[in-house]
Amino acid sequence: MLIEHHNRGIKIIDIRKARIRDRKMTYNWLYYSDFSDYLNDLGGISKEAIPSYEYYKKEEYMDFYFDDSQPDKGRAYIIVCKKNGKIEDIGIISYTSFHLLDKITEFDIWLKKLSLTGHGYGTKALLRLVETVRDLGYEKVIIRPSKHNKRAIKSYQKAGFIQEELEPKNYYLSEYIPKYSDGDYESGGDVFMVLKL
Ligand SMILES: CC(C)(COP(=O)(O)OP(=O)(O)OC[C@H]1O[C@@H](n2cnc3c(N)ncnc32)[C@H](O)[C@@H]1OP(=O)(O)O)[C@@H](O)C(=O)NCCC(=O)NCCS
Repeated sequence: MLIEHHNRGIKIIDIRKARIRDRKMTYNWLYYSDFSDYLNDLGGISKEAIPSYEYYKKEEYMDFYFDDSQPDKGRAYIIVCKKNGKIEDIGIISYTSFHLLDKITEFDIWLKKLSLTGHGYGTKALLRLVETVRDLGYEKVIIRPSKHNKRAIKSYQKAGFIQEELEPKNYYLSEYIPKYSDGDYESGGDVFMVLKL
């Protein structure tokens, strides 16, 4: 009773494994939330060019992120906020490894709406996934925000990521260098950040 009283109002940020049934909402948070115009702009994605959900399922967040079929390739987690016995889904965070050298993985993260940003939730989720991938045996995590996305960069710094000059062959499998080494933004448009575990 005392503990319950004491904890009232405290928010706990945690992550849980995402399931196939969670995928559609993560798509909507990314492309149709109140920060999507901003993110799409950074990524050079016009309104007409927003990827379809079919494309998202086939090319961006494939089944293995949600069904435990290929954990060595990647996995997605739902960020949850627990408060007063209630649990709310507030974002998604994932690791992806299929394109990178052994023991290196890449994170991606977004919350579900603008009002949830700036409260430390994203940073807490990053720290949770860092623990998870450390337990899986990874030694380095990379993340590549747009150089204009100051909020994301600040959050990643708080989680321990350090900016580095990218030498693609030290991170990417050679066959993926042409496709991925430039990152998600125009060449030179991102900040390459590394966390050593
Ligand atoms: C990126 C994201 C996951 C970070 O999570 P978060 O919970 O917002 O991060 P935090 O609140 O821990 O940290 C953000 C920091 O940036 C600061 N910040 C916010 N806006 C800023 C701005 N315009 N310029 C500089 N710093 C800014 C905040 O004050 C905070 O720092 P503080 O703790 O020292 O005050 C979240 O903001 C998000 O989902 N954004 C939209 C989607 C996105 O950009 N995803 C990343 C794609 S790479």
